[in-house]
Amino acid sequence: MQALFHKILYFQQYINNRTDRTIITHFILLGFSDHPNLQVLLFWSFLTIYVLTVAGNIIIVVLVVADLHLHTPMYFFLGNLSCLEICYTSTMVPRLLFSLLTGDRAVSVHGCIMQYFFCATLGCTECFLLAVMSYDRYLAICRPLRYTYLMNGRICFCLLVICWIASLSNISTITSLLFKLSFCGPNEIEHFFCDLSPMLKLSCSDIHLVELVNFIFASIDIVPPFLLTLISYMIIIINILQMRTKASRQKAFSTCSSHLIVVILFYGSLTCVYLLPETETMKELHRIFSLFYTVFTPMLNPLIYSLRNREVKAAVYRTAAKIASVALKLPLQ
Ligand SMILES: *[C@@H]1O[C@H](CO)[C@@H](O)[C@H](O)[C@H]1NC(C)=O
Repeated sequence: MQALFHKILYFQQYINNRTDRTIITHFILLGFSDHPNLQVLLFWSFLTIYVLTVAGNIIIVVLVVADLHLHTPMYFFLGNLSCLEICYTSTMVPRLLFSLLTGDRAVSVHGCIMQYFFCATLGCTECFLLAVMSYDRYLAICRPLRYTYLMNGRICFCLLVICWIASLSNISTITSLLFKLSFCGPNEIEHFFCDLSPMLKLSCSDIHLVELVNFIFASIDIVPPFLLTLISYMIIIINILQMRTKASRQKAFSTCSSHLIVVILFYGSLTCVYLLPETETMKELHRIFSLFYTVFTPMLNPLIYSLRNREVKAAVYRTAAKIASVALKLPLQ
């Protein structure tokens, strides 16, 4: 009797598995498909932004590498940040452009997870890098006498390596857990890239472990760098306000105000996306704020740094003159 009961139970499970659990292999990234008449306009806008982003950040990297006056920790970090921004937008904007142009929105599940891996790793490294940059400014402004000792080339390099190892190890752990999940549909993601929470929503496996690990890592990856950045800039601002002369106040403020703008833009939009509840009315807002930290801030960074910074402007003129003289084969003055 019991054997029969087991057999019935087994058969029922088998049927359930067959009917509900058709494993899907592709997601549909809906993106902006709810605005069908805006597709062409969106395509050209995103293409323009993407080209400007890549060009602006490449200019910064070239300046930092080519101009000897910019061979300081602050500019090394800035150059590295620009590299990071180029890669970061490149993990999602080209795919978005492709789907806006062709209407092909399907992404394989593994492709989606890999996209999450790349953009989360780069985003996470950016959090750490912004913290390191704020620490660098703190040392330069509040500990000027010990600055060259506390922030030399080797320490710079070590800090960068730590940023990368920390984010890579955390995100690859989450990614390996994601690869074990199965997805059974529906397969539509209401976003323009493969973020973690929209993917988890579509999974039919037990996602508690992924969610727990993600929560722990998000607490490690976002909260400490954010607090470090916040505290550094607070100490810097207090220090600047206490400076005696107006000239020194202005000089100190001009170097770190651009950093502060970048930090506020990045963390501000990140906070809006991940902390605000995802209700029906907030959906549009979510998407706009996601656009902010994935598409707009990478474009704005080079502008913010170069427009507000005399050293960068001088480096632009020097490098342009160098290139011109090489091109025209004139002797360098
Ligand atoms: C990134 O940082 C390293 C180490 O400080 C530096 O040697 C390198 O030039 C930087 N890269 C760019 C593109 O600025």
